[in-house]
Amino acid sequence: MAAVLGISAYHGDAAAALVVDGRLAGAVAEERFTRVKHWAGFPSEAVRSCLDMAGLDPWAVEHFAVARDPRAHLAKKAFYALLHGPSIGLLRDRARNRRRVSDAATALADALGLPVDHVRPRIQWVEHHPAHMASAFFVSPWEEAAVCALDGFGDFVSTSWAVGSGRRLKVMGRVHFPHSLGMFYLALTQYLGFPRYGDEYKVMGLAAYGTPDFAEALRPVIRLDDLNDNGGSFELDLRYFRHHTGGVDMTWDGGEPVIGRVWTEELERLLGPARRPEEPIEPRHEAIAASAQRSSKRPRSTSSAAFTAARGRAGWPSPGAARSTAS
Ligand SMILES: [Fe+2]
Repeated sequence: MAAVLGISAYHGDAAAALVVDGRLAGAVAEERFTRVKHWAGFPSEAVRSCLDMAGLDPWAVEHFAVARDPRAHLAKKAFYALLHGPSIGLLRDRARNRRRVSDAATALADALGLPVDHVRPRIQWVEHHPAHMASAFFVSPWEEAAVCALDGFGDFVSTSWAVGSGRRLKVMGRVHFPHSLGMFYLALTQYLGFPRYGDEYKVMGLAAYGTPDFAEALRPVIRLDDLNDNGGSFELDLRYFRHHTGGVDMTWDGGEPVIGRVWTEELERLLGPARRPEEPIEPRHEAIAASAQRSSKRPRSTSSAAFTAARGRAGWPSPGAARSTAS
């Protein structure tokens, strides 16, 4: 019997999933136990619940898979730090989060009543984006597929696309920090007066009521790269964002995640005054929501074009497609 316990920890929507002999035996988010939406921290109750659902002894778990790899893209991170000299705050926040992730062995051992020396060598660090794509592709009905993940950030990456084939996943392209479609959508969500973690769905809903009158105004905020051998890519105009400056408070310590304001006053110069949470929703806000929705689709279509290139290289006659869109 092969049992793999996967966890997402110290991030919004902390959760666990258990796969036994290639079949999903249990999966649950920690928020179901804490009753706090998007609960971050370590999913202690979730890991115990997964084992209970399967009737499995913790000693029988062969691998503990963590959906983060603190060692991923170290050269990219170092190069970025050298080039841009990020603030002490940003470096401190990243070091703290890296330390927390590294403490996963201790937290897992505590949650399952196992010796930490038993858990530590069984931990598999899985880079965040391949973990997203694996969760989409390996449970899909296709033997081969183009796979894509778009989120805020994970292990310094915000967007990636890959070719899935059998038991393999080959990453074909990535968009790295600080450029992120998730960060673009978060900025517009906060600007429209929805400050809580996970509020993006409200902007998606609001978009249906408006017309995308601000899509042209937003066009320079996301710059699309021409499709080339590296696939479709994009960059943010960073004048509109603060997330890369280290001046944004973020809390992933247990409880509801908190992310400080990620947009700058430049956005108000572009779109007009931001909406405060207590202010009424006006047609202008609906139009901006519709425009954000339309703008966020531009890089996605570029990624789709990259899939076509990937499919061409793989020589597939009629491939399927699996997509993971997550935070
Ligand atoms: Fe993610």
